[in-house]
Amino acid sequence: MLLDKTICELFAGVGGFRVGLERADAAWQTVWANQWEPSRKRQDAFECYCSHFGGHKDIYVNEDIGTIDKFEIPNHNLLVGGFPCQDYSVAATGAKGIEGKKGVLWWQIYDVLEKKKPAFVLLENVDRLLKSPTSQRGRDFGIILASFWKFGYSVEWRVVNAADYGFVQRRRRIFIFAYRNDTEFGERQASKNPMAIMNHEGFFTNTFPMQEQENVTEGQLTSQDLLDITECFAFGFETAGYMTNGHIATTKAVPVYHGKRMVLRDIMDHDVDEKYFLGENLAQWEYLKGAKHEERMAKNGHKYFYSEGPIAFPDPTDKPARTMLTSESSVNRSTHVVADLDNGKYRLLTPDEADRIQGFPKGWTNTGMSERFRYFCMGNALVTDVVCEMGKTLNKIFEGKYFHK
Ligand SMILES: C[S@@+](CC[C@H](N)C(=O)[O-])C[C@H]1O[C@@H](n2cnc3c(N)ncnc32)[C@H](O)[C@@H]1O
Repeated sequence: MLLDKTICELFAGVGGFRVGLERADAAWQTVWANQWEPSRKRQDAFECYCSHFGGHKDIYVNEDIGTIDKFEIPNHNLLVGGFPCQDYSVAATGAKGIEGKKGVLWWQIYDVLEKKKPAFVLLENVDRLLKSPTSQRGRDFGIILASFWKFGYSVEWRVVNAADYGFVQRRRRIFIFAYRNDTEFGERQASKNPMAIMNHEGFFTNTFPMQEQENVTEGQLTSQDLLDITECFAFGFETAGYMTNGHIATTKAVPVYHGKRMVLRDIMDHDVDEKYFLGENLAQWEYLKGAKHEERMAKNGHKYFYSEGPIAFPDPTDKPARTMLTSESSVNRSTHVVADLDNGKYRLLTPDEADRIQGFPKGWTNTGMSERFRYFCMGNALVTDVVCEMGKTLNKIFEGKYFHK
């Protein structure tokens, strides 16, 4: 059966999911999107989103997602969003049942799942989500899986480092793909064993090939009851996995890729403005990036030794970039410093280059926001090429062309 390629984009930022999916097929249609930058008067990411995708303010909503009645969101077949790694535990609240902590955005996604039941869901998060919190490893991811189980979904996940599949940034993120068990795709997948899904017939292995694995760790979610998971559940989730009916299978993903590999130099500009060059600050940068083993004093007067290893200085341009962080615009050891292609002098990346490291078209965030905020938006965004690859697999699923060994 053909499914309409309709999307709801939560935590839309500057539209990374949408850019990637539309690149996979222009037929993907966003029917509702939400983006709101807490505690900021200026809503630059939202303005950037609207400037590229039109100003339909009724379907692109710039309000705290927590204030939105989820029944009002139009029906859609694919829910997408990148959400932060927070504490997903719940507490008992007497008559009301259970409640997650205020401001924890997972519960907004949960609310959409409950009210709208989209056929497919694709989410992104940092990879430490699999191991959080340190005091009860795997609990938070267990809460996410149990929520999907409760609403009738199966889930596949994979940690993907974009550079492993030829893209220009080393960025490791977990992607979570969930599908309703009563969809045609869900019914087909249900007839397969977890090993087959992880090795040959799953969403991720058909998008990002990995070595065939024989060792799989299996487990069981103790309950669909999120309070029970909060109190009792811990599990060693690996970088690839599958959950259906509470049954978990997980294994280490070893990427297989033989295609072209992009490097930082491929997206660097020529004729770069003087203001990006380090000039007299070179020594400060050398210190920040260098190895340290030095005595420091805490605010309370306590002396301690601080050590850290060196970071490549400058960043090699014949390799993929390091992960772009929201702090990219600041004087910070994780900020990239490169040797300019024209004159070899050390400089920062330009905001246009930051756009391209995430696979956005050059100038994507050049929509009236400050340069500082352009870098910030890119630190928040995701590698759109990775989404595009997943979009190609989604195209097949939505067009009824399923995977076979
Ligand atoms: C990890 S970023 C996602 C970025 C996006 N994938 C992109 O490509 O730009 C999360 C986004 O959620 C937004 N956000 C945070 N709290 C929010 C809330 N309560 N309601 C709506 N959006 C929120 C942030 O402003 C940020 O843009």
